[in-house]
Amino acid sequence: MATATVFLNGEYLPLDKACVPVLDRGFIFGDGVYEVIPVYGRNPFRLEHHLQRLKNSMQAVRLDNPYSDDEWAKIIANVVERNDGGDQSIYLQVTRGVASRDHRFPGDTTPTVFLMSNLFVMVPSEQLEHGVSAITLDDIRWQYCSIKSIALLPNILLRQQAVEQGAAEAILLRDDEVTEGAASNVFIVKDGIIITPPKTDCLLPGITRDLVVEQAEEHALPVEEANITFEDLLAADEVWLTSSTKEILPVTQLNGNTVGSGKPGPFWKQMYGLYQEYKQSLRESG
Ligand code: PDD
Repeated sequence: MATATVFLNGEYLPLDKACVPVLDRGFIFGDGVYEVIPVYGRNPFRLEHHLQRLKNSMQAVRLDNPYSDDEWAKIIANVVERNDGGDQSIYLQVTRGVASRDHRFPGDTTPTVFLMSNLFVMVPSEQLEHGVSAITLDDIRWQYCSIKSIALLPNILLRQQAVEQGAAEAILLRDDEVTEGAASNVFIVKDGIIITPPKTDCLLPGITRDLVVEQAEEHALPVEEANITFEDLLAADEVWLTSSTKEILPVTQLNGNTVGSGKPGPFWKQMYGLYQEYKQSLRESG
C-alpha cells in the first residue's frame, strides 16, 4: 500500500517516505514494544485496554511513555482518518530510539514512535466453517511473555514450524501446560466449561481473550481461568484461538487428530456470534 499514511515521530507521512536510521535500537536489538489494535468503523476496539497494556509493556522494559492516553487516541484517530476504507488494524511500536550500538540503555535518547494502518482482513469463511489445524510445540520463549515485545524471533520460528507442517498455529506447552499460541491465546471447552489459562508472565494478556471471558460471564456461560495440561488439550471438546486479527478461531485438527466432533463447536458458535455483535455495535457507535 504505497499510498498509506503512517505516523513517525510526530509526522504524518506516506509509508514509502517513512524512514528510521539503521542505528535505531528496534532494528539493532529488537529493543521496543508494540500493539495491534483493530478499528471497526473508525472506532478502535477496547482502546483503553490496549493503551493500558502498552503502558505496562513500556514500564516493564523501562521505556518512558512519550504520549498521554489522549495524545495516543488522537494520533490513532488521525491515522485512521487518513487511511479511509473499511475496518482497519493499527500497528504501533515504540523503540528505545537511535544510539550507537551498546547493550546498556543510551543516555537521553528519544523513543522512536511508529504507527501504521492496514486494512482489516477478515478470517476466510472457509476457516470459520471448517476450523483450522494446529500443532503443539515446546514453548521456547523467555520468562516475560506478558510484555508485548517487538523481539519476536521465537514466535516467528514456532509459527513457521507450524506452517511448514500444514497448520495455522503452534499451541505452546511449558512444563506440559498450555501457555498460548505463537500469536494468539488459547481456549478449550470441556464438559460444557470454557477454560483458558490464567494471566501470568508465561503469556500475553490478550485483549480479545479478556473480552471473550467477560462476554461468557455476562451470558452466564461457565468459564474458568485454569491451567490446561497437554492431556486436557488433547481431550478437549473444542479448542479456540483468540487474537485481534483472528478474533475467535476454531481449531478442529490438533497434531493430526480430530478435535471433538471435527467441526467448530456450539460454544464457539455462540461466542463468535457475541463477538460479532460487539464489533457491530462498535461500528454503529458513530
Ligand atoms: N498478536 N499472544 C501472543 C503471543 C500474541 O502475539 C497475540 C496477538 C495474542 C493475542 O492478543 P490480542 O487478543 O490482544 O491481539 C496472544 C498480534 C495480533 C500480532 O502480533 O500481530
